[in-house]
Amino acid sequence: MTVPYFTLQWRGDAATGALWLIDQTKLPEAYEELCCTTAEIVFEAIRSLRVRGAPAIGVAAAYGVLTGTQALRSSPPDLFRQKLRSVAEYLASSRPTAVNLFWALDRMTGFADRQPSSLTSAELHDRLLVEAKAIDDEDKAMCLAIGHHGSLLLEDGMSVLTHCNAGGLATAGDGTALSVIFAAVRAGKKIHVFADETRPLLQGARLTAWELMKRQIPVTVICDNMAAQVMKEGRVHCVVTGADRIAANGDAANKIGTYGVAVLAKYHGVPFYVAAPSSTFDLSLADGSGIPIEQRKDEEIAESFGKRTVPRGVSVYNPAFDVTPASLIDALITEKGVVRNPTKESVAKHFV
Ligand code: MRU
Repeated sequence: MTVPYFTLQWRGDAATGALWLIDQTKLPEAYEELCCTTAEIVFEAIRSLRVRGAPAIGVAAAYGVLTGTQALRSSPPDLFRQKLRSVAEYLASSRPTAVNLFWALDRMTGFADRQPSSLTSAELHDRLLVEAKAIDDEDKAMCLAIGHHGSLLLEDGMSVLTHCNAGGLATAGDGTALSVIFAAVRAGKKIHVFADETRPLLQGARLTAWELMKRQIPVTVICDNMAAQVMKEGRVHCVVTGADRIAANGDAANKIGTYGVAVLAKYHGVPFYVAAPSSTFDLSLADGSGIPIEQRKDEEIAESFGKRTVPRGVSVYNPAFDVTPASLIDALITEKGVVRNPTKESVAKHFV
């Protein structure tokens, strides 16, 4: 199964190249590529969800460091290193919840710190591109491994519900939750997907449905408020979602609405799985209460896609993520394998 699109890609060498990405705000109506030549363009692309999904944000930020320091290749190394730090701090302020962003930026700055001080700025910049590409390649490999482990939980003929988009568009590779489905299909299993449309920005309807359609995997879009009924009708055999940040005890932040789906799944006896790479785990947080939840603009709800649907002057609340407690998660699926009934102890053991 070859995928006829890329999500993000560095094209060219370090000195003259740029980050190209699919502008996901345009999907599914238009497929447009955006060329990011500055850190400001990358910042805006992340903030406005042109590139989105936790792992993809991390990879974009790693390449964003390259664009933000490109003009200083001929500058004194001290100045270059100073700029590198300020670009990383700037990109880190683009979105707060997905820990992959901070993970990738820390990795880029940590990598630079370990390089000999004798390097010229151009030499260091060249090496930073190699590191960013390593982050990109590792993400692709993690997606495949997640897919492999998760696919063993799916049986032929199953109908899987997913929320938001945790597919190729959300990563550098095959995705997390959708990678599980792709791998099961590659293994010859027939899988049908219910995609929650995922209000307010419709990542499920616009992006998950687009990806599955491209791969010719049967998908049915439902409004978020239909999940309970569809489960009650016995049409959902398991739920698989991605995550933006997972705490040490297994509590998992993901797109707003995921927590509600997990509650519904528990009530209906439907297994609930969360698929995510190790770069999504924040083991410094004991539980999900410390995960920062992004608050987004009122207009995304009150005036979504250019149509006013809430009376002017009425207040709107727009948290972009919620936290599903580990007690509602039947298994975490990572590139290392599966953690069933996650707890502080089992998560710690998984990562030794
Ligand atoms: O606001 P978004 O579209 O970036 O939110 C994305 C999600 O919530 C995904 O489910 C999550 O990042 C996992 S992506 C593999």
